[in-house]
Amino acid sequence: METRSPRILLMVTGSIASYKALDLTSKLKQAQYEVRIVLSDAATQFVTPLAFEALSGHPTACGLWDHQERMRHIEWMRWADLILVAPATAHFIGNLAQGKAPDLAGTMALAHDFQKPFLIAPSMNPAMYQHPAIQHNLKQLKDWGLIVLPSPEGYMACQEKGLGRMLDTEEIIEAIKQHLTPKAFGGTLNICITAGGTKVPIDDVRYIGNISSGKTGQTLALEALRQNNVVHLLLSSDAKIFYPSEFQYYQRLERLKIIPFTTPQDLEEQLLRQLHNQKHNVLIQAAAISDFDIDVKSHDQEENPSFTCYHKLSSHKSHNLVLKPREKTLAKITKQNQEGMVVAFKLTSLPVWDWDYVKQEVSRVFNSGHIDLVVHNDWQEISQNNPKWRIFNHNLELLSELTRPSEIVHSIVGYYNSNFKRRD
Ligand SMILES: Cc1cc2nc3c(=O)[nH]c(=O)nc-3n(C[C@H](O)[C@H](O)[C@H](O)COP(=O)(O)O)c2cc1C
Repeated sequence: METRSPRILLMVTGSIASYKALDLTSKLKQAQYEVRIVLSDAATQFVTPLAFEALSGHPTACGLWDHQERMRHIEWMRWADLILVAPATAHFIGNLAQGKAPDLAGTMALAHDFQKPFLIAPSMNPAMYQHPAIQHNLKQLKDWGLIVLPSPEGYMACQEKGLGRMLDTEEIIEAIKQHLTPKAFGGTLNICITAGGTKVPIDDVRYIGNISSGKTGQTLALEALRQNNVVHLLLSSDAKIFYPSEFQYYQRLERLKIIPFTTPQDLEEQLLRQLHNQKHNVLIQAAAISDFDIDVKSHDQEENPSFTCYHKLSSHKSHNLVLKPREKTLAKITKQNQEGMVVAFKLTSLPVWDWDYVKQEVSRVFNSGHIDLVVHNDWQEISQNNPKWRIFNHNLELLSELTRPSEIVHSIVGYYNSNFKRRD
């Protein structure tokens, strides 16, 4: 197995954002990538070959006619695992779309053999970016299989605000990771993940909730996205977003959709709608859905028979809340939607470790619906900063014991590919 660092060929063209390619080079090196730099003729007006040389540890290639550059356009394209143009000017994009090679960078870009990812991070003034000529050229490049990264809205050097800004360094590196990840598990799956806690209303302004932060579900979503899958994330409406820039990036690529929910009913309706509208390969139910509905026994009710609990309960009277067990969401959902693989999470809180109890609880989850895998974790382990996730199959066999969320996604997708793929 190959152990060398992944190789990035970074082409920098002549934009006001060219200086950002220096930071990008430095961050790529810190992330253990090997980087070689090519500057367009215009880029040398904005940044120096020397600065890139110092950061990358390789000579910077510039002029087509320099003695040393002979055949470099072919050699370096062969050397790279991934080609990235950042920033990519309107001029560079136009030339490439028309097959023109005015300088070394343009010549190299045309020596692309379409066997490796070729990413382009456009950077230009909003009017330029939205010009039909540019949009036409970008579409042409996409149609040929090049990956055009989003150019988000922002303030430009020209004092205008709009689309066309070069994607942030971290997001570009995220895109590189995504496109260099080997598709070891056989390609893209549609994964629906629920995350966060539900709120069960007591009256119009009060509710019973739980301590779920939604972090596990969000981490699973991020890992699933990094592994090339498409994710629908049903997320508690007031959950903190733990990975804002990564999620924004995948939302722009239309690989992540976040759907908010509040009450258990709300979550169930959204989930059924999602499962009905989108064909999901895998549903991962990681949300902490209330186990109870609430029945309010209020004195208000006795005094006023037309009272319903959807008012604000008066604060100078006592009220009784009855917690009524509610039918498990997965039981309801899997009754109505049998497609795809279903993974449930089970949290226990064991003062003393008890395998029999764990298996009994996991078995209860399997019995509550049509569920393929149960991922068990325990609150005591989480609170001691030693979380473990144990994956059980229907026969209560322990398939794996994991310590990282990325491994959970690997295991789930691996299980899907061995047991479900041929059924699709
Ligand atoms: C100060 C300055 C900033 C520029 N910034 C951009 C830019 O952000 N995006 C762009 O497409 N062109 C920009 N240009 C124009 C390009 O530098 C010009 O089109 C050049 O021919 C690009 O050549 P290249 O694509 O071979 O690097 C800028 C020009 C100047 C003088």
